[in-house]
Amino acid sequence: MRVLLILATAGLLGAAATLDDPTTANGVYTRRQADEGRDLFALACQNCHAPTQHAGNDFRSKWFGRSLGELFGYLRREMPKTDPGTMSDEEYAALVAYLMRINRMPAGQNPLAADSAVLHRIRIDSIPSAPVPHPDTR
Ligand code: HEC
Repeated sequence: MRVLLILATAGLLGAAATLDDPTTANGVYTRRQADEGRDLFALACQNCHAPTQHAGNDFRSKWFGRSLGELFGYLRREMPKTDPGTMSDEEYAALVAYLMRINRMPAGQNPLAADSAVLHRIRIDSIPSAPVPHPDTR
């Protein structure tokens, strides 16, 4: 079933799907989610890294162009270093949202899904993939 779905997606949507897929510049998480991520980071992560270690050029050179799914997967597999995988998927998604915010990526209306299939379709970038015209702000 899963294989069929992947084949269908690749075959039918192909390049169009890639073009329309959002990037982290499209507002893919909510403010509230990032606030939750900030609190979790202070509790579970900050004793080993300062948030600034995951912002700016270091983050850019390592993660830009990859997908949020990779970052989410990395955190789930590896972090917190001494106790990996001990948080819920929702908590890892909130941490990802927080990392987006400290990298100046905008918040939006909808929370980031705690679902790696969805997250794999969102590219980490500061440029929206499909800029939409805003008729009412002309
Ligand atoms: C016990 C110490 C420790 C804790 C707690 C910890 N980390 Fe880490 N983290 C590390 C080390 C060490 C690395 C370097 C990579 C490695 O050795 O695997 C790392 C690497 C990372 C990276 C990759 C950095 C990069 O190069 O982009 C991210 C992102 C990250 N940690 C996020 C987190 C988050 C989020 C939490 C909290 C859930 C957390 N870490 C908790 C020790 C820790």
